[in-house]
Amino acid sequence: MSATRIAPSILSADFAKLADEVAMLEQAGADWIHVDVMDGRFVPNLTFGAKVIETLRRCTTLPLDVHMMVVEPERYFDDFVAAGATGLTIHAEVAPHLQRQLTRIRELGCAAGVALNPSTPLCAVEEVLGDLDLLLVMSVNPGFSGQQFIPSSLDKVARARRMLDGARATAVLEVDGGINRDTIQKVWQAGADTFVAGNAVFASKDAAAEIRTLRSRCSVAV
Ligand code: DX5
Ligand code: ZN
Repeated sequence: MSATRIAPSILSADFAKLADEVAMLEQAGADWIHVDVMDGRFVPNLTFGAKVIETLRRCTTLPLDVHMMVVEPERYFDDFVAAGATGLTIHAEVAPHLQRQLTRIRELGCAAGVALNPSTPLCAVEEVLGDLDLLLVMSVNPGFSGQQFIPSSLDKVARARRMLDGARATAVLEVDGGINRDTIQKVWQAGADTFVAGNAVFASKDAAAEIRTLRSRCSVAV
């Protein structure tokens, strides 16, 4: 079993004190910082772009896991990489030339990821497993933090695990949406190794304790 990563989403942070929030996450034991970029077109919500990624990059040495909920994601690859993104994850639903787009992300020196909405089947990435560093299974419809985990995602994660293992693919298997102390263990058991957590971490009084709890759930003993 590969390492478990907890990736708090900065979307749930207090933007009036972004640097403090990032320092807090680093202190609290976060493995990655998950950065939700939304364009108001692919998803109803609008967040931020390269400027905020650059600001985050100056605040931390942790990997910046950039989740691009945008149409025409390739328009932003160069700027986001220059701003300091570690990985760029694009949505299959808006990436008709997935193989070319993933190859381009890797050429820029970044980890290349694909995200799948709850209604998008796993076969959308079947032909590009060799071009993939990360597969992100969405367990909510993207756009907002604080939504409920969709239960059918569990079976999808299990099938994703089998697909990756069957192809001897080494991509990270990340899950995003509604991850908390009650949902994480089953998702881990289904085979995910990387967990985005927005509300669970930021609504808790003690982020370090929450991250420890989330991590501890990723073991058979709990
Ligand atoms: C949803 C975003 C998520 C979100 C997670 O569209 O992609 O990363 O911020 O938030 P929680 O953990 O609160 O569901
Ligand atoms: Zn996300």
